[in-house]
Parts: sequence; structure tokens; C-alpha cells
Amino acid sequence: MRLNLRHTAIASAAFLLMASAALPAEAGGKFEAGKGTFLLNGEPFVVKAAELHYPRIPRPYWDQRIKLCKALGMNTICLYTFWNAHEPQEDSFDFTGQNDLREFVKLCRENDMKVILRPGPYVCAEWEMGGLPWWLLKKKDIRLRENDPYFLERVDKFQKAVAEQVGDLTVADDGPIIMVQVENEYGSYGTDKPYVGNIRDMLRKNFGEDVTLFQCDWASNFENNGLDDLIWTMNFGTGANIDKQFDRLKQLRPDSPLMCSEFWSGWFDKWGANHETRPASAMIEGIDEMLSKGISFSLYMTHGGTNWGHWAGANSPGFAPDVTSYDYDAPISESGQVTPKYMELRNTLQKHNGGKKLPSIPATIKPIEIKEFRFETVAPLFANLPEGKKSHDIKTMEEFDQGFGSILYRTTLPALPDGGMLTINDAHDYAQVFVGDRYIGTLDRRLGEKTLRLPKCEAGTQLDILVEAMGRINFGRAIKDFKGITDNVTVVEERDGYTFTCDLKDWEIFNLEDTPEFYASMENLPLGSFTPDADGRLPRGVYRGTFNVSKPSDTFLSFETWGKGLVYVNGHPLGRIWEIGPQQTLYMPGCWLKKGENEIMVFDIVGPTAAVSKGLKEPLLDNLNLKKPATHRAEGETLDLTGEEPVLTGTFDAGNGWQERRFAAPVNGRYICLEAVSPIDSSKDVAAVAELYVLDENGRNLSREPWTAWYADSEDTKKSNRTADKVFDLQESTFWSTAKGAAFPHQIVIDMGKSSTLTGIRYLPRMESNVPGAIKDFRVYVSETPFKK
Ligand code: GLA
Ligand code: CA
Repeated sequence: MRLNLRHTAIASAAFLLMASAALPAEAGGKFEAGKGTFLLNGEPFVVKAAELHYPRIPRPYWDQRIKLCKALGMNTICLYTFWNAHEPQEDSFDFTGQNDLREFVKLCRENDMKVILRPGPYVCAEWEMGGLPWWLLKKKDIRLRENDPYFLERVDKFQKAVAEQVGDLTVADDGPIIMVQVENEYGSYGTDKPYVGNIRDMLRKNFGEDVTLFQCDWASNFENNGLDDLIWTMNFGTGANIDKQFDRLKQLRPDSPLMCSEFWSGWFDKWGANHETRPASAMIEGIDEMLSKGISFSLYMTHGGTNWGHWAGANSPGFAPDVTSYDYDAPISESGQVTPKYMELRNTLQKHNGGKKLPSIPATIKPIEIKEFRFETVAPLFANLPEGKKSHDIKTMEEFDQGFGSILYRTTLPALPDGGMLTINDAHDYAQVFVGDRYIGTLDRRLGEKTLRLPKCEAGTQLDILVEAMGRINFGRAIKDFKGITDNVTVVEERDGYTFTCDLKDWEIFNLEDTPEFYASMENLPLGSFTPDADGRLPRGVYRGTFNVSKPSDTFLSFETWGKGLVYVNGHPLGRIWEIGPQQTLYMPGCWLKKGENEIMVFDIVGPTAAVSKGLKEPLLDNLNLKKPATHRAEGETLDLTGEEPVLTGTFDAGNGWQERRFAAPVNGRYICLEAVSPIDSSKDVAAVAELYVLDENGRNLSREPWTAWYADSEDTKKSNRTADKVFDLQESTFWSTAKGAAFPHQIVIDMGKSSTLTGIRYLPRMESNVPGAIKDFRVYVSETPFKK
């Protein structure tokens, strides 16, 4: 029993109970780890959890989505709380509307579903900065997810606020919350038991000593941060060898209940890559196996929903911003539709329902079409800049107290009689460069672009750099992701055999914050007076229009003719759009539409080719529109290793799990080539690698943050994204794989960004028990300079 600060009525009732000393000490329930199983009030309980994220689902649909999970055969809802949604500004909390956590948990209880609460503070989840508020970065030297006193103080305040909302809804208070998670997959961030211990202690302080706490991590790293007094659970994707995933846990704690706390039903999409799918069969087999063995699970995601507004995050190493849809190829689609995957899973869960018939499936919404409509006005961006601010040096967005949107940096150039080379260190994330009003080009952080050739110009010519922030990185050490320009801008000029470098200063800054006030400040002009430019584009700016709906229902608004930006309908932020795809429509929930006229606004920082849209009955989530392919080998190109001596010739073992191989002696180099000479399964020509590390002079993993994939002889991108960069994306469930039919040997080359002393490699094959693509004989080559190709 606990006191709840939010509800004085409950608090005084609790006081009465405490006063009557004759009552048994504990009136509420208990959820705990028993011998080989969880126990709910003393009875064995297998957790069948559906992961759902309330801010990703329109609030009027919460109840229907929970009912869909129940009808699927789940008994629990697993959810994160999103700190940055709840505390948009320091000390100003929001638990209303889409953020009404308490209401969501109560809805779970009304539907007789248990709840697993994962209050972070970090949640990953493909959400902006993994849920951490951007304003933490105003303290430039902050150490995120560490024992930084300011960070911990803020976490404590947030946790207290969460506990005020739902702290009285744990099983101990006869509420639905059975477990609370401590941090999130800390093993893929670092090793720091004292920090994880602090988060645990704060949860106990804020939620009460009687709350059951657990940690989730990967089988390969959970020991690094596993605390003795917490329950340990494992995260892994469909297809993984399940017994193998629990091997180590069973050795350490033979009596522990087993739980896969994130069984990935599908995967998230990033801009510029194919839509991700995972076969239903692998998910169903995995769930069936787990339930046959009494293993608890949470299906991440059972229903993914949508990254409304600017909430989508970005993956790293590298910079891979996530799309707006969080469909995740989950059993319940982004818009709440029942998929074939859902029906198959329901049959499986029915089998494991103790002979009881599952509740019937609630009605789903029938999407509508909206016929094509034209936008009416545009407010061109450059004619509508807000008041500028002066700054001698370049500063980040955060230093101007701006969290989201775009920022324009303006200065003047020195005389460049022969032109010059512009370098931006670093533009986060999408920089468009203009010289004297003329668009020169774009630097895209995803592609590692930093330099651009400037045309010749006179001294004093205006230089504009328009930088759009995409989602902050939500995974790995790079979550400290400042936006705008992070360091400096230089122009290098080569003249008469000399090199002149000019570090540009004296900027005027325009903060184009993603707020209603900014958009409202702009002057709208009739669209009819504008014609497309030489590239066929209408101006960058804010477009407004209206469309009519006779019977509001869900639809998918098409943005196939638009550039890049953000969309609002009736004031609801629908999310980001980008012509490169794969997503070309935005989910428009019918509950946010009105009968009659509806208002739409698009802020397009590139400019549309036609300012039109329409509503479709089905989403377009898989339409890539790339200028360059996402693979790492140009047509006709072949790696030439003649004359290169391998630094290591070896053989990998069969089976799952990490393997390490040392070089005979340390070598220096910047480029590393892993050549797969033969497969373990000689009947297949395919090679695959899930993760690859290179060991430094002390035998430790070299940082992979500056890595780029330089070459791969073959990459399977037909329907998936099995590209070379997947070997260093820090995800053990994703992998590089060669395409069917390409013959051995296979090579992958990584540019490690700088030269280092290297002593060996660590290799992880695929997680499936039959280990597809496992490599047998291999060679490693190292070079200071690029290999020949
Ligand atoms: C991890 C994280 C989740 C999510 C998934 C990938 O398991 O814990 O928040 O990011 O990866 O979707
Ligand atoms: Ca990987």
C-alpha cells in the first residue's frame, strides 16, 4: 500500500487503513519471481504482453487497440513512458490528452489487462533521443545515462511525476501494474552498475519498496549491468535460437522465470531504405515455442502506431533517421487493422489459452478515400523569416533554446574568384546551401556529406545555410545529438598554388522552430501566382489548404509530389514527409477529421513539384525513390586484392554466438576487408554477418561511430535491407547478407574513418538456430589506403 500524492481522497483513505493497526499488513496483490515461473498472488503466471505506446496511438482509439490485444490472446500491455513528451520544457509536465498515462493504464485495467511499465528514463524505441528531453543538452557537458548529478536530479523529478500519475496502480494497490523496468538495454550503451543501481533506487523511492523491478538486455551482454536483486529478462527478435538466448541466464540463475521482454515482431523503417518486414512464421514458431516451455514474453511491437510530429528518432552508428510510420510490420497495423499475421498469431495464442475461447475481435475502422485537392496558399520561407539574432561563432540549435524544426545560418563570403570548397562541421541533419539567393546544393548527414563546391563570387556575397533537424539519435553513445551546425564552417580556396582557409564568422541566425506560432507568423499568398523553378519545384515554405469530408474516417494522405517537411491537419501534427521514401503517405486518423471542411498545412523545406494531396485507403510504406542506390558497389566494380597479403587466414566455428580471432601481430590501418572464402553450409552460396568488431591494441572493441561501409561485393536488398552497414549498426538481429546466386568468395570492406593499431576481430553470425550464411574459412586484409577496385 502506498500514498498517492495526486489524489488526496485516496491518500486520506490510505491514512485510515494505516490507522487501523488490526488489519493484515498487506491488503493488495503481489507479483514476483517464483521457481521457474512468475507468480501473481501466489499462482503461476505466464506474461503474454503486447507492447503498445500510448503517445503513438490517437487517444480516442486507445480502448479499441487494447481490446485488439486482448482478443489476440494477450494478458498484459507493456509500455514505455516518454520523458520528452511528458516534460517538453524543464519543470513543466504534461500528462493530458495523448500523454494521459494514467487514463491509459486505467483503460488497461478496465479491459482486465495487466501492465508492465518501462519508465526509462531512456527508452530507445525509435523515439526522439530515446525519450530524453532535448533541453538536457543545454548543459553542454552533460553525461547522459550516467551518474551526472544534474542528469540524475532530472530523472528523479520525472520518475516522481510518473509515480504521482500511476504509482497507486501497482498490483500492491490492486492495480494492473505488475512490474517496472529499470533503465533499458543498458548493455548496448556501457557498463555502469552504480548508475543502473541509482535508477533502481529512485524507482523504489518513487514507486515504493514493494514494486517488482526487472532489467532487460541481450543474452550477449546482460551480465555487464545485471544487479543481483533484480529480475533479468532477455530481448531478441523473431527467428532467434530461443534456448541459446536463455543459456547463460539458466547457468547463472537456474530457478529464474524466463522472459523475452522484447520479441521483435517486425522492425522499424528508416528514410531511404526498403520497408522492413519479418515473416509471420518465425514469429508464430517463436511464440509457440516459448509458450510450450512456459516462457513469458512481450511482443514488441504488437501495434506500433505512428511517430506523430517530430517524435521519430534516428538510429546509429551512422545516422539513420526513422520514418513517421511505426507500423513495424506488427500484427496490428499502424492504423489498427487486423493483419494476416494477427490472425495466425491469434490461432497460436488460442492454443495456449487453457481451453478458454478468446474474446471476439473488436470492430475495426473502414478507411475512406478523399479525392485529390489543391492547396490554396503558400508563405515562401525566405520572405517570411523571423527576426534574426547575431552570433560571432556558430552555435547549435540548443544554444539558442530551440528544440525542433529548422535553423538558418547567414553570413557573407570572402571574394572567391575561382570558387571554393565549403566544409560544414557538422550539419545536423539536412543542410541546403544558397549563395546570393541561388540554391547550390545539399549536404545530407545520412550520407556523411560535409563538403560542397561553391561558385565564384565577390566579397560580401550572402551565404545561407538552411539546416533541418531530423530526429535525435535514440541508440548507442551518439544520443548526445546536437542539432543545427555543431562546430564550424570553413571555405577553402586554392589560388596560385596556395591554399587559403577561411573560418566563417559573424552569423545571423534565424530560428525556424516547429511551433504553431512560427507558422502563424507567416504571410500566405495565393498559390496561383507562383510557377515552378528550373527543377520543377514550387518555393520552400508553408502551404495551406482545405479538403472536405462527408463522413470522417481513417485515411492515408498522399505526399508523393512533395519534397521534405512536416504536415499538420486541424492542428494535429501528422509527422515528417520526405520524397526519398519508402513512406509516401501519412496516416490520418478519422477521429481527428471533421465533417465538412478540414485544414491542412505543410511546411516543405525543399518545395513540392505539385501542391496537391488526396486520401488513399491503403498506406504507401514501400515506395523508395532514391537518386543513388543504398548498396556499396557500383555497377561493374570488383574488389581487387591482388598483391595484398592477408593479416589473418582462419576458420570460424559453426553455431550461434560471438567468436574472436586474433592477428599474429598488431597491424596499423584504416580499411579492413573481411573476405568470406567458404560457407559452413556448402549447399548455399550465401554469406552473412550480424555484427563485426575490430580489436584495438588493448584487445578492446574499437569505436565504430566513424565507420562507413566502403564496399560489399553483394548485398541482398531485393525485399529487405541486408546492406553492409548492418554489421556495425549495434543490432545483433540485423545483418549483412549477400544476394541469392552470388558466388563465393564474398568481401566486405569498412572504412574505419582513421588509422589505428588493430589486433583482431570479433564476429557474430545470424541468430537463427540454423545460422544462415555462417562463414567457415575467411581472410582479413588491412590497409592504410583504400583497396583497389
Ligand atoms: C531495443 C529497444 C527498443 C527498440 C528495439 C528496436 O530492443 O529496447 O526500445 O528500440 O530495440 O525496435
Ligand atoms: Ca547488425
